[in-house]
Amino acid sequence: MFFRLKDFSFTNKKVLIRVDFNVPMHGGRITDDSRIKKTIPTIEYVLRKGAKQVIVCSHFGQPKGRKEPEFSLLPVCRRLEQLLGRKVEFCEEFAVDESHKVVMLENLRFSRGEAENDYDFAKKLAGLADIFVFDAFGVAHREHASVSGIPKHIPSCAGLLMEKEVEFLGEDMKSPKRPFVAIIGGAKPDKINVIGNLIKRVDTLIVSGVLANTFLKASGHEIGLSKYNKDSLNAARKLLSGFSKKIVLPEDFVLGERFMANTKTRVAYVDDKIAGWMIMDVGTETIKKYKEILNRAKTVVWAGPLGAFEFEKFETGTMEIAKHLSKLNIVKIIGGGDSGEAIEKFGLTSRMTHVSTGGGASLELLAGHELPGIKALEENYRKFKK
Ligand code: 3PG
Repeated sequence: MFFRLKDFSFTNKKVLIRVDFNVPMHGGRITDDSRIKKTIPTIEYVLRKGAKQVIVCSHFGQPKGRKEPEFSLLPVCRRLEQLLGRKVEFCEEFAVDESHKVVMLENLRFSRGEAENDYDFAKKLAGLADIFVFDAFGVAHREHASVSGIPKHIPSCAGLLMEKEVEFLGEDMKSPKRPFVAIIGGAKPDKINVIGNLIKRVDTLIVSGVLANTFLKASGHEIGLSKYNKDSLNAARKLLSGFSKKIVLPEDFVLGERFMANTKTRVAYVDDKIAGWMIMDVGTETIKKYKEILNRAKTVVWAGPLGAFEFEKFETGTMEIAKHLSKLNIVKIIGGGDSGEAIEKFGLTSRMTHVSTGGGASLELLAGHELPGIKALEENYRKFKK
């Protein structure tokens, strides 16, 4: 149980809203602004209810406590301004001028205190406002100052996006229609941590992307120059021996010589020698096999693209599966920044049951883990309820 927007009066209050504006950006250009668009209803609600000031804050990338211009939120602030249709004051330091109605803070991760969940940093942020609204579902799985620290200090509630995500991914997925299939791909190497629990819930787990490379390496296959996670090899071996019937790995690939759009390519099978090459996408046999599995499914959760879909030469796997899924009349939940971006790129967003704004967060929730962002709101409710 946690507070919702309707539980608070915002009249004349200073309101700090934590959003997840960790949007995909290539060459300084935002390539998918869905995460920004989806927080507009919360920001507008608070303004409509008479807030004195709204302060929006977010992280962007992983700058690890250093101020790096490429991770500035300034371009995102400008996009927010366009979407809201009003001036948004960009604030590089945390000294907020009270005369501005809507303010956006610079990247929280420029301060080490954010990722270290520093008590004083959270207190400083909380000191900017009377009420905290958490609408950053995408980062709810991180134990960071602006996720679990701020609610220790001031009354806090979930925003409208957060409420919706928890309803779709938490409540509605407690007893999914079976067969229940999860597709886990993407480039982030730390996903193995959630697989242990998720695998117990699903009937089939299709693994692609960097995670598949780790599994292939763990089972003795050559993966050439492909990215994988060395620290997860043992965990991958254990999962393969415990759940070999549930885990489905790619059987063929499209390889690239380098991680770039115009690189030389070739196809290969899982047992081929691929030294000097990297796995960039799944191959045609694999796509065929995945489609057959999906044809039997009643619920599908998909987090993370199957290949480097940002390059045309390597988008086929992700695009083929997205198109196939869009035609199936089943429950289709898309989790995550990159998968959401892929679905949007192929114009299929409206054909899915729910496109979440959270990648890691949606996986953790589906795996049955307690999210620090939700736990903090629940504790806040117990502390501040009358
Ligand atoms: C995401 O894009 O998954 C969230 O914004 C969390 O980002 P992080 O993995 O850098 O914490």
